[in-house]
Amino acid sequence: MGAEDSRRMTRPPKLLIFDSGLGGLTVFSEIVKLRPLAEYLYCADDAGFPYGSWKEPALVSRVVKLMEGLIADHAPDMAVIACNTASTIVLPDLRLHWPNLPFVGTVPAIKPAAERTQSKVISVLGTPGTVARDYTQNLIAQFAGHCSVTLVGSKRLASLAESYMHGERVSDADIVAEIAPCFKEEGGRRTDAIALACTHYPLLINEFKRLAPWPVEWIDPAPAIARRADQLLAERGFGPDVSGDRPASRSAIFTSGACPPAPLATTLARYGLERTVFAPTA
Ligand code: DGL
Repeated sequence: MGAEDSRRMTRPPKLLIFDSGLGGLTVFSEIVKLRPLAEYLYCADDAGFPYGSWKEPALVSRVVKLMEGLIADHAPDMAVIACNTASTIVLPDLRLHWPNLPFVGTVPAIKPAAERTQSKVISVLGTPGTVARDYTQNLIAQFAGHCSVTLVGSKRLASLAESYMHGERVSDADIVAEIAPCFKEEGGRRTDAIALACTHYPLLINEFKRLAPWPVEWIDPAPAIARRADQLLAERGFGPDVSGDRPASRSAIFTSGACPPAPLATTLARYGLERTVFAPTA
């Protein structure tokens, strides 16, 4: 703990929220509810999107390199890796490189799904990368040994969620094709809990509920991640009442350097992300 950490902070914290695209906004919006006055920098690595099909070593190097630039330029008090596909492999490297910076990750919500299911038939809906990770297998072995677990690696859902956020039409048939493999019936029991193991997916939650063949509990870990971020900030001396009287700035970076088109700019403004900073591609 540095000298600054041992006392109560008199300025709002600066949080860096990172994802491959717009999915991290589902985590960002939950953190904002707990920390409305903090300063936020949202980074979407749209130049690297989608992360779901990247080879693991290449993805680790990319994220570490991007974080190097972001941390050097913006000196955040906390970094939130709002991406399951990255968090399930990159957190150890990040913590090794920056031992004094708290990192909050986003990993598949298998434990809550296994706790809440009645039927003991659950599914994990993530990117192809996330469902293939050892990390995910270990979570299943640790917390869901009593359940039948179906892993569904969706190739298209993250892109469909991006289209939706850009104000484009997403067809019901396309969504149904991606979520259908999550719904299983086995010996009179059927799936009753689905872990949303990609931060993009809660962006489509209303469509999932509408199109599901039967009702299930869709588990979005974002509120729990936000509570963890809030708790770590408090431990670092950023009490809930540390503030000016107005929210600090909230800006977004797109690694492609592309200017968000008008419909996306409107969506970002709804999240309070008015100022967009452009950054070079890693
Ligand atoms: N939002 C990311 C996640 O939580 C992944 C989307 C992608 O880049 O494929 O896994």
